[in-house]
Formats: sequence, structure tokens, C-alpha cells
Amino acid sequence: MKEPAFDVRGADRRHVWHPYTQHGAADPPIPIVRAEGAYLVDDHGREIFDAISSWWVTLHGHAQPEIVNAIAKQAQTLEQVIFAGFTHEPAARLASDLLARAPVGLDRVFFSDDGSTAVEVAVKIALQYWVNRGEKRRTIVALENAYHGDTFGAMSVSARGLFTEPFEHLLFDVARLPDPVTNDVVSALEALIGQRERAIAAVIVEPMLMGAGGMRMWSAGALRGIRELTAAHGIPLIADEVLTGFGRTGPLFACEHAAISPDLMCLSKGITGGFVPLGATLATNALFDTFTSKDRTRTLFHGHSYTANPIACAAGLASLALLDEVSVERRREIGWSHRAAAIGLQVMKGILNVRVLGTVMAMDLVSRDDGYLSTLGPALNRFALQRGVLLRPLGNTVYILPPYCSTDDDLARAYDAIADFVDSLGDTR
Ligand SMILES: Cc1ncc(COP(=O)(O)O)c(C=O)c1O
Repeated sequence: MKEPAFDVRGADRRHVWHPYTQHGAADPPIPIVRAEGAYLVDDHGREIFDAISSWWVTLHGHAQPEIVNAIAKQAQTLEQVIFAGFTHEPAARLASDLLARAPVGLDRVFFSDDGSTAVEVAVKIALQYWVNRGEKRRTIVALENAYHGDTFGAMSVSARGLFTEPFEHLLFDVARLPDPVTNDVVSALEALIGQRERAIAAVIVEPMLMGAGGMRMWSAGALRGIRELTAAHGIPLIADEVLTGFGRTGPLFACEHAAISPDLMCLSKGITGGFVPLGATLATNALFDTFTSKDRTRTLFHGHSYTANPIACAAGLASLALLDEVSVERRREIGWSHRAAAIGLQVMKGILNVRVLGTVMAMDLVSRDDGYLSTLGPALNRFALQRGVLLRPLGNTVYILPPYCSTDDDLARAYDAIADFVDSLGDTR
């Protein structure tokens, strides 16, 4: 007798709590049974183009065979080992291979679990660096509209607002620089350093592209200016490349647009090609050396159960190899496709500020209710899904951030879904 099919929808409805989901208002989640390349396949066999790389992680494509094989091989050899007092080839190799490709001057890799923990680690290293040096510097400088994750340190350095409001009283104070898209952030930093230099422990930025804050693209000149100022004053610069890393903005890392090297760099999302979670914080030896001592109180007392999980590291190595081999040309082509589509979208009445950086395209929809809670977001999400495209707008900001295997036809489906949605609104928005 055939086993009755498991009731995924029912079990999910009764037992699961989803991320960033208002269970009182959202449509029920769609069961996905498999995925391949740029497509998800739901339990009715419907194919959905994953135009946002499943929350920005799927780099080359779903079920990429080289990564599948690397994971399977590693799982049969060494699936996990405590990373204090032990090491293993996948971690040591991945650290070496990441540093070989990262901006010069980064010498050490601290592994963690995800983007938020990669940021926590960077912030803790920067703060303890000053403690280890015997200086009282406790202020982190962060950008308006930044997003660095959902743990408490990462929330503290992120913009304050809807996401952080219930926890406001528990977040540590930071010094805030204005949004670099619309302000002279370099002069603002210069003024701040003039007033409070001896309090500043670090500056944290999302280089070139502020993601969850609205896919806000800012200039290489401003990034370079921030680096020059922080370097001149000996202030560590943290580049949060959790989103921008591994080619999303064109070059392998967004810092390359400005030809700069940060003191700390946070990586995650695409690091394993989007297969399994892994975070990494890259640091200079100048920072690392202040922790190295016979004095055990100078230790970085931080670690996670799965730090440098061998399976995740093996996936990371396979993904890096693919980045070197096949994705450079495809990334360039995605950029061209976006730029060509931007010409048509930009002239539409309901669309403003179409922007492209590497493989990322974003635009704002004209809306009565701007911001993350704009009703246009869920409406477009629903509309696009009916056309077999996954878009998950940030309020009235729509973006496409596709896996690198996406073809021009796949991308056209996403552009068309957006254009048709805007057309369908007529003047009702
Ligand atoms: C720039 C940036 N930093 C950190 C994070 C947090 O990463 P995670 O969701 O893996 O914790 C994100 C997530 O979107 C991000 O975009």
C-alpha cells in the first residue's frame, strides 16, 4: 500500500514559525520540493524563477553539481569536529583561498555561522582590540539606513527602526553617519573624528550597496574617503560584505570598486554557494597580534558549536573554484541585461530611480505608503509568483539579485513581471 503523502502545509501551519513573516496576514508558505539551476519547483510541479537567490545566498545556481559532490564527499570523510584545539584541511584551505582573493592586508579568518555572527565577531574584535591595547574606545560608527543582521550587536550597528524598535532599550549606542547615498558622508566622518577621535573603536559600512536598507547604491569615492580617513587615524574599518561578497556587485568584493582594503571583512551568504550556512570574519595581523600573548585574558572568547564545519568549508572551496572558472563572464552578462532592461523600466510612470550595480538591479515603485510596510511589496510578491517569479520587495523597493546561472530569458521574466505589475496598478497606487 502506498504511504499517504505527508501533509506539509498542515504541519507547517500548526507547528512552524517563519522568519520575517506576519503569520496573521501573510499568504501560507509554498512547499518547495526541489530546486535546480535558477528554479524552485513547488509541490504542484510549478517552476518558479528564484530572482532573489533565496535571500541572496544561491550564487551559481541551485543543486550545482560540483558543490553537491564536494558536500557528499566531505560528509563521508569528516562531517564535524570541534574547532578549538583541532583543525582540518577544508578550513585551512578555505582560509588560505579566501585570503588569496580578498583585498590585500587581510591575514586571518575567524569562522562563524552566518552574516549576523560574522558581524558580531568583527564588532567584538574591534572593541577588544582597544581593550588589549589598554585604550578606552567604545564607540562604533555606523551608517544611517544600514542593515547588519538580527543579533543584538548586529542590530545595534544597524539603522534603528521597525526591525529594532522592540529591543531599542537594550541596543548599545553607536555614532551615526548620514546615509552616503544623499549626503557627504566623508565630511561627516571627518567632523566626527575631529570631535570624538579617542572614543571611536571602529567604523562599519556595507561597501557600495546597502542591502536590506533599500538596495541603496553609493559611491566608490565616498568609500575610498572613509578608508583614507580611518587609516589616517588608525581606526579599524569593518566592511560588511555579507551581501556584496563573491561577485554580486561585479568584482569579487565590493571593496575592489574603491581599491581599498578594510581591517575587518564580514562574509557569509554566497560563501558556500548558498548550500549550507557559514560565516567568516577576515582580519589583519595588526588586529590579530594584539590578541596573541601569554596572557590568556587577551583571548577572543568567542566561538560557535559548528565553527568551520568541514562540510560548509568544502562547499566554500567548491564555490570559490566555480567563481574563478565560469561565473566572471556570466556576471558581466547579467549586468548588461539589467542595464538594457533599466532603459525601458526607467521611463514607466510608476517606477523611479532604476539602478544597477553588477548583478544587482533595484528600483522604487511610486507608492502612497513608502517604506518596508508598503502594501505594494506583498502585492508584487503575489503577482510575480502567479507568473512563476520569486520577488520579495523591500517595501516599495523592488530588486533582482539572481543566481549567476540565470539566462537572459529568465531575467526577462522578472523584468516583465515588474512592468506588468506596475501597469496593472494604473492610477490606483
Ligand atoms: C549586509 C548584511 N550583513 C549581515 C546580514 C545578516 O546575515 P544573516 O541573515 O545571514 O544573519 C545581512 C543579511 O541580509 C546583510 O545583508
